[in-house]
Amino acid sequence: MSELLTGHAKAHTNIALIKYWGKADSNLILPTNDSISLTLDEFYTETSVKFRSDLKQNILTINQKQQPTDKLKRVNRIIKHFSDMWDGPKFAEITSDNHVPNSAGLASSASAMAALAGATMKATQTQLSLKELSSVARLGSGSATRSIFGNFVHWHRGHDHDSSYAEPLESPADFKINMLTVVINDQPKRISSTNGMSNTAQTSPFFKEWTNTANQAIDEMKQAIRFGNFSKIGEMAENNAMQMHATTLSSNPPFTYFEPDTLKVLQIIQQLRHDGIECYATIDAGPNVKIICQNNNLKQIKNSLLDEFNENQLIVAHMGPGIKIY
Ligand code: DP6
Repeated sequence: MSELLTGHAKAHTNIALIKYWGKADSNLILPTNDSISLTLDEFYTETSVKFRSDLKQNILTINQKQQPTDKLKRVNRIIKHFSDMWDGPKFAEITSDNHVPNSAGLASSASAMAALAGATMKATQTQLSLKELSSVARLGSGSATRSIFGNFVHWHRGHDHDSSYAEPLESPADFKINMLTVVINDQPKRISSTNGMSNTAQTSPFFKEWTNTANQAIDEMKQAIRFGNFSKIGEMAENNAMQMHATTLSSNPPFTYFEPDTLKVLQIIQQLRHDGIECYATIDAGPNVKIICQNNNLKQIKNSLLDEFNENQLIVAHMGPGIKIY
């Protein structure tokens, strides 16, 4: 019987090319704009969920460390979403391993919440399509919506729980892009994405314009992905990231996720482009820069970075697969 109450899943993290930044509904985590991401092979979370009738609350262990129960709000939501639908036990023991290279300084909530949703679906023997599962992952963290699928993914903002979901995007079979992460600071960020986007939405006079511009960029980015137009994907992703970060600087009080080394990497990228080596930057709610590039330029980009950074600050990731549930 106990095996019936158990589920496992592995989900990969993703980096947005058109960012999600702002909530229309903070309870359901409905975003103000659609977003598009790339799932990465290198970073993932493996999670097991085991429902136990003797538990009075959920227990979460991440990388062998038990987490304080007051940190489980979003985890509890996902467990409850599924356990409300059955007569079985209501609480589970959750064991999660984050395979994010030490000091990568990358967010794991996308892969973590996607894996949790998949493992809980399996444990409760709920039958959902992957599209429906992406909506449930969203209840844990917005970016998790996109981690259900591999490669390029579009998250439709929607207007209620069911209409806010992700779907995979087609790209040419031989089209490959890489993300080279430059790790500038591996400490937890001072302003979480959740708080950062909320401060921005409330106080930046540019927020509305950000939302409109991001929504308008979706069709063009989808087109660029469909045709494997690397230059277009890179240019649009870099523009979109800078537009997002402009909203933090224009917030009140103003803030930025950039650090001096963030700008240093942006300058290296501009110089590389000037020298004819195509690469583009994207940056999330932290100082680390992800460089979008293709295989043929990877070595030269790394060499330029090695003048200023150490080898262990550079991590290369490729396009990654969708969720595995078992
Ligand atoms: C900058 O998904 O971490 O990475 O929904 O509040 O959990 P919550 O936020 P989260 O925000 C991610 C913001 C981002 C852009 C993106 O991934 O699209």
